[in-house]
Amino acid sequence: MTPDFWQEAWRIGRIGFHQADVDAQLAAHWPTLDLPPSARVLVPLCGKSLDLWWLRDRGHEVVGVELSPLACEAFFREAGVEPTVETSGPYTAWSTEGLTILQGDVFDLPAEPAFDAAYDRAATVALPDDLRRRHARGLAAALKPGAPLLLVTFDMDGGDRAGPPFPVPAAAVHQLYDASFDVRTLARTPSPELAKALGVDTCHTETHALVRR
Ligand SMILES: C[S@@+](CC[C@H](N)C(=O)[O-])C[C@H]1O[C@@H](n2cnc3c(N)ncnc32)[C@H](O)[C@@H]1O
Repeated sequence: MTPDFWQEAWRIGRIGFHQADVDAQLAAHWPTLDLPPSARVLVPLCGKSLDLWWLRDRGHEVVGVELSPLACEAFFREAGVEPTVETSGPYTAWSTEGLTILQGDVFDLPAEPAFDAAYDRAATVALPDDLRRRHARGLAAALKPGAPLLLVTFDMDGGDRAGPPFPVPAAAVHQLYDASFDVRTLARTPSPELAKALGVDTCHTETHALVRR
């Protein structure tokens, strides 16, 4: 998936991944991670997800990373919040109290353990194989030892479709993340509406709690 693919997706509104509500898996499982409000949380490939506000409202300092300026603009406009916009290294940083979206390429994040936790919904599954492996290495580099990563993936069968999203079953999660994380699968939930939307026979949403070693 080239950056152009995503810029075009936002330009023409091909954003079926966007949810009108906070993600159910986030709301159910994030509290079980028992993080202090002071935790600094990375949200890679964040889109204009309402999950960012939900995390911020728990007291966390939230840093999203998103390629599309249209997504950033819509995120703040739809919330009725005026962001400050300034250059920050390779990024344009769109910020308000406790929340920043770094607009730019997630692969430009410094390989420094600057985060206490991360939340990945529809990020790992948005990327093709080679970039998915690079993304997993990037998350490992960005997280401090002991930091949790709440990871929401999709497993699907049947149908004849190219991604994204790509199926990332639990076995693939282990292949991607075992080198740097302890991986525990928390839930596997049938998602018939998503299966219908994607034109596949079955789809399950899988939620994993990873801990950076
Ligand atoms: C499938 S969407 C998921 C968005 C969000 N996590 C959600 O749940 O709504 C993937 C998002 O990642 C962004 N994206 C894709 N590649 C990226 C990259 N290399 N760096 C930063 N953002 C990227 C896309 O523009 C898109 O908004």
